[in-house]
Amino acid sequence: MTRIHFLTSNEGKVSEAALHLEPLGYQVVQLHVDGIVEPQSDDLETVARAKIDQAKAHLPTEDAWILVEDAGLFVTSLDGFPGVYSAYALQTIGCAGILRLLSHLHSEDLKVESGLRAAEFRAVACLHTPHGTMVGHGTCPGRIAANVDGEGGFGFDPVFIPRDLDLAGQPVEAGQQGEVSTHGRTFAAVDSATKAAFSHRIRALTDLLSQVPSNL
Ligand code: IMP
Repeated sequence: MTRIHFLTSNEGKVSEAALHLEPLGYQVVQLHVDGIVEPQSDDLETVARAKIDQAKAHLPTEDAWILVEDAGLFVTSLDGFPGVYSAYALQTIGCAGILRLLSHLHSEDLKVESGLRAAEFRAVACLHTPHGTMVGHGTCPGRIAANVDGEGGFGFDPVFIPRDLDLAGQPVEAGQQGEVSTHGRTFAAVDSATKAAFSHRIRALTDLLSQVPSNL
């Protein structure tokens, strides 16, 4: 099994990645490095690459594979806020704060069709190997719930409802019903296998793995 050192302090991310990568033959272990500085940038890939560059000085072994994954919640009617500032927004205003920022919307506007609560999670996964650095991208379109819902997950999961998927696993048009659905429940209200079917993180990892040469 190829071991992947996942540089993150977020155990929720590690378990989601392990759930996906271990059946594919990768062992995922969490890597803590003190003093990693997150650059000020409005681009997730720039942030992820900067973390990889800093982590290179702390490789557990010379040929270690290091994974960094940066994600954020982008709310359309807030011009993409909190986006790259999602971690800070979670610590400060939290899920309740995101709901408050949208509370001026009238009940008519709460309808999915209005699109005013549209949001998406985006993730960028960056893998450093002795053979090069690869980058994968993933998005999960959806909307912000009217209320906090669910006890599971982490971060903004309790306020995010993913858009339904078709049988091929692709998001359907906004407001349409798909074969795969959380039935209006948030990521925090469904189990981790269900979240994985929609997840930006899993999509970024899948994109990343498609770039790993098969002879490695
Ligand atoms: P990070 O910088 O990639 O750790 O992510 C920034 C913030 O985005 C985190 O603090 C989480 O609050 C939020 N976030 C990232 N991915 C998810 C997710 O899958 N569910 C809920 N919140 C997430």
